[in-house]
Amino acid sequence: MQGQYLQIVYISRQTHRISEPDLLDIQKKIVNRSVSKDISGVLLHRSGIFLHFIEGPYKATVELLVDLATDPNHRDMRLVIVHSTPKRHARFWSMGVIDMNHSSDNDAFSSLIKTASELCPSGSSDSEVESFLDRLITYFAGHIESLRDDQAA
Ligand SMILES: Cc1cc2nc3c(=O)[nH]c(=O)nc-3n(C[C@H](O)[C@H](O)[C@H](O)COP(=O)(O)O)c2cc1C
Repeated sequence: MQGQYLQIVYISRQTHRISEPDLLDIQKKIVNRSVSKDISGVLLHRSGIFLHFIEGPYKATVELLVDLATDPNHRDMRLVIVHSTPKRHARFWSMGVIDMNHSSDNDAFSSLIKTASELCPSGSSDSEVESFLDRLITYFAGHIESLRDDQAA
């Protein structure tokens, strides 16, 4: 395996209704562990579907993936990116979590899920991975901006 960091993207389905407090609980776990293990990424949730990007040092990221795979809060985990790389993509935050249920742009989320499902877990090229992660992070950053604007209005 080449590269010092591991990038993982998966799609999964909630096993029960995830309320805002449930999501906040997951977020707390995420923040504690992500900071201590140097893992960053983005978790999006909408209509019972999770789209999760994690990246970090190889061993810590694999350990997190094992915990995620056995977490009873979600099922049908489908890996869409498993990519090793010498440089990380999202160095500037630990883990952003967004509940997209209140957002009106369902189309953008569906389109991200569609593109993700078409990726091949270990067969995607570096540029396909880069371009999907760019898109995911731009989407995430744009959504954070619009949440801020809503709160300021
Ligand atoms: C969709 C989803 C995403 C999660 N993402 C993370 C994550 O990024 N980092 C993390 O530490 N835990 C995450 N969790 C929680 C882990 O699966 C696991 O419950 C937790 O790491 C165990 O922490 P604990 O041993 O301190 O209870 C997530 C859970 C779900 C359902």
